Amino acid sequence: MNFNRTDSFGRTVDYLRISITDRCNERCLYCLPENYADWLPREEILSYDELLAIVRATTAMGFKRFRVTGGEPLIRAGVVEFIRDLIATPGVESVSLTTNGTRLPQLASALFNAGLRRINISLDALDPTVYRAITNGAVRSVIHGIKLVKELGFDSVKLNTVLMRGRNDGEIFRLLDFAAEHDIAIRFIELMPVSLTEMLSEKNFFPIAELLAQLRQADDPQPLNESFGFGPAKYFRLKKRGVTVGLIGALSDLHFCERCNKMRLTCDGKLRPCLGNHLETDLKPALRPQIEVAHLHELICEMLAQKPSEHLFRNNYQPQRVMTAIGG
Ligand code: 5AD
Ligand code: SF4
Repeated sequence: MNFNRTDSFGRTVDYLRISITDRCNERCLYCLPENYADWLPREEILSYDELLAIVRATTAMGFKRFRVTGGEPLIRAGVVEFIRDLIATPGVESVSLTTNGTRLPQLASALFNAGLRRINISLDALDPTVYRAITNGAVRSVIHGIKLVKELGFDSVKLNTVLMRGRNDGEIFRLLDFAAEHDIAIRFIELMPVSLTEMLSEKNFFPIAELLAQLRQADDPQPLNESFGFGPAKYFRLKKRGVTVGLIGALSDLHFCERCNKMRLTCDGKLRPCLGNHLETDLKPALRPQIEVAHLHELICEMLAQKPSEHLFRNNYQPQRVMTAIGG
């Protein structure tokens, strides 16, 4: 079989985001509806062996980069061993983790020893009250985790901040100073309509153009050409503060999807070619009762061929699944 990892718009797709759980120990406003209890039953969640079989099927097609995400990936038992096995899989060139950081104090060393070198940590505020109002959690352990990760010497550490007017727009410069102090890149992300909470409105949307205007007034942002981690962010170096800032204009940037290189796997085995589209295919028929490699390839190729040119977020998109179920 001739595998092709190019989609129908000529984009090379070689990056898979793997959600290993839909559960989370926090409850971010933009991610989970209040009192959400619609968790997937345990038997629906793919085993690590099933996940690794999918990884092997994608590396055979030329996929090279993998991100482990959730829900909150660090609350699933065995995550460290899974990451070690993922790193050891032939064809896997880069493995990264997206986490809310709350369990890093316990797990950062073990993750480092397992070979993990790239990590993105969500940090929506530094003020404990503001942080709690957004995530329902405590920022102290996250800050502790961030410091630990820096001490351990990970190659790539980035902070992710989802910007919301009236919530954390007052935290921008504190966050920038914190990132500068610890020599970490920070990315600000426009709020997307990906959860069922209907959080996104004209009132709380904070466009990155407005952020850039603030940065120009307070500092000297120099555009950077290198795209760290090949992601969709536009990077700037703030000359005065000495910090790298990424701006992710998921909604306002009309070229946002042009260089999209990724697909997503939900923790219950649905392959999604685009975050902002309901299109998905169930890989379980190729995994249970036993793993059928040829069938896996067929399903993955089918989804790749249907990868849309761009997300539907600007067209009054109504999410049907919560973000934790899609993979943050
Ligand atoms: N809008 C933008 N980003 C989101 N994330 C989750 N939900 C949203 C949303 N509604 C991203 C954030 C968070 C990560 C886990 O997923 O980057 O830090
Ligand atoms: Fe949990 Fe991340 Fe969703 Fe927040 S954004 S509730 S930390 S999965």
